[in-house]
Amino acid sequence: MKAVAITKYGTPDVMQVMEFADPQAGPGQVRVRVKSAGVQPVDTAVRGGWTGFPVQFPQILGNEFAGIIDQVGEGVSDFAIGNEVIGWSVLACYAEYVVVGTDQIASKPREMPWDVAGVLSASGQTAHTALRELGVGQGDTVLIHAAAGGVGTVAVQLARAWGATVIGTASERNHDYLRSLGAIPVAYGDGLVERVRDVAPGGVDAALDAIGGEALPASVELVADRSRIGTIVGFDAAPRLGVRAIRSQRSAARLAELIELYVQDKLQIHIWKSFPMHEAAAAHREVETGHVRGKVVLTIE
Ligand SMILES: NC(=O)c1ccc[n+]([C@@H]2O[C@H](COP(=O)([O-])OP(=O)(O)OC[C@H]3O[C@@H](n4cnc5c(N)ncnc54)[C@H](OP(=O)(O)O)[C@@H]3O)[C@@H](O)[C@H]2O)c1
Repeated sequence: MKAVAITKYGTPDVMQVMEFADPQAGPGQVRVRVKSAGVQPVDTAVRGGWTGFPVQFPQILGNEFAGIIDQVGEGVSDFAIGNEVIGWSVLACYAEYVVVGTDQIASKPREMPWDVAGVLSASGQTAHTALRELGVGQGDTVLIHAAAGGVGTVAVQLARAWGATVIGTASERNHDYLRSLGAIPVAYGDGLVERVRDVAPGGVDAALDAIGGEALPASVELVADRSRIGTIVGFDAAPRLGVRAIRSQRSAARLAELIELYVQDKLQIHIWKSFPMHEAAAAHREVETGHVRGKVVLTIE
């Protein structure tokens, strides 16, 4: 099979389309012919030398995918060849084939486009994990930093679906986008705390930091209960400030819940840009601008 891989760390140009042996589905596994794969900041970090995941060169990249099952392993009864699925696998998804256990996939609705399906299971599950940890629900006012990004886009809509009022930070060019998702937009930068107070006269109950920098100190000023402040990026600052450091907890049930919200029209996923697999370098450059709206996707044809 063809896959996008690296043989050394470096700039986006170190990624190449390479040949690998076709993987085979073992017991309890399925093989998926991948149609699309999401591109995340963590993919660019791994490519650039971040060692949070074990890497073995040549290393395929990518952590989320959608595609069609083309092989089922022994003992698999809940999925069959031809099923359209959405799933995740660490450092494996920019590839023609992915092999995963059935606990890492959920059924894709026929009406969901492939590009949307391919970007749902990583950022989406991070947003879901974070808001659940923060106990976000009916009547809460929630502040979401970097609300227009991959995680923020889903977090805003989940919080709205669960009955919260949402304030989201973004640059001005994304304010109409945030309104379309149901958030009250606020510009980040100097004066952030005052701007949030202006739109939240009753106070802020919880905050999710998906960007770092000023986001955590601002959250600490705005939210009284530190157990309701979480960060998915500030792992050094979190213990010092007594706030939650949150890591994505992925499960097929969590993914299925996101898919159901999509079917109910409570969750939309904006595709910022789509690139064919052989243009993975351009996709990484796009993510590395730090100003993606929604998600970047690779199509694997
Ligand atoms: N802990 C975990 O398990 C976990 C899981 C997934 C992701 N993450 C991390 O979470 C972070 C967010 O991921 P993502 O996929 O959402 O990233 P992303 O899509 O690349 O985020 C881009 C967004 O960030 C916004 N932004 C840039 N500077 C900002 C600032 N100073 N204040 C507020 N917003 C700002 C941009 O809005 P403008 O264009 O309007 O500036 C843009 O919409 C990444 O660092 C990622 O590695 C952690």
